[in-house]
Amino acid sequence: MTIYPETENPLNLYKLLIGAVVPRPIALVSSLSADGIPNLAPFSFFTVASANPPVICFAPMFRGADGSSKDTLQNIRDTKEFVVNIVSEDFGPRMNLTAGEYPPQVNEFEVSGLTPLASEAVGAFRVAESRVQMECRLKEIVEVSSLPLGGSLVLGEIVRMHIADEIVTDYRIDPDKLAAIGRMGGPTYSRTRDRYEMERP
Ligand SMILES: Cc1cc2nc3c(=O)[nH]c(=O)nc-3n(C[C@H](O)[C@H](O)[C@H](O)COP(=O)(O)O)c2cc1C
Repeated sequence: MTIYPETENPLNLYKLLIGAVVPRPIALVSSLSADGIPNLAPFSFFTVASANPPVICFAPMFRGADGSSKDTLQNIRDTKEFVVNIVSEDFGPRMNLTAGEYPPQVNEFEVSGLTPLASEAVGAFRVAESRVQMECRLKEIVEVSSLPLGGSLVLGEIVRMHIADEIVTDYRIDPDKLAAIGRMGGPTYSRTRDRYEMERP
């Protein structure tokens, strides 16, 4: 099968991409609206962009149905701040509850039962249940495409990183204690328990 993107339905391209680029880590992104309403949503188009300075990036897409902005993107445009929380197995189902397409006035901390924790350097709350929480200041938004299912790359500089003491030794995080989950296609997730080593040449 060979795909010619210029003639393909964008939804099919989306399905192929989320099936091919796997597993994807999940950023549970907390933000505040201009009016101060907390927002929480997961994003798996997510990775590290730089360690010096520490910069992470994730990509909210414009909604497939009507091309509108996700609340997270609008909030970050307005406030220039957010928190990325890493998702562990134990609160995966609560993370999933935050992914509903709720109107901007809905506080997904209340919908999901996840616990808001005040941040040190930014207004957005951290997720208390998360073992790694990264407080970020917006560095740049790259609008890759403004079409429905097009993405904006949000780059955030980490200004505070909180790691649960019990999961870290000498700056190394124990993956069993973090128990991060990843997203595959559709409703499928992966655990990070099945690992092996390969020495680099
Ligand atoms: C595990 C998971 C990963 C997701 N990753 C993305 C993503 O990378 N980009 C995106 O636009 N939506 C993604 N979504 C969907 C958003 O979370 C969903 O549209 C959410 O309602 C957006 O919330 P907001 O409007 O409050 O920002 C994901 C959903 C789940 C469950």
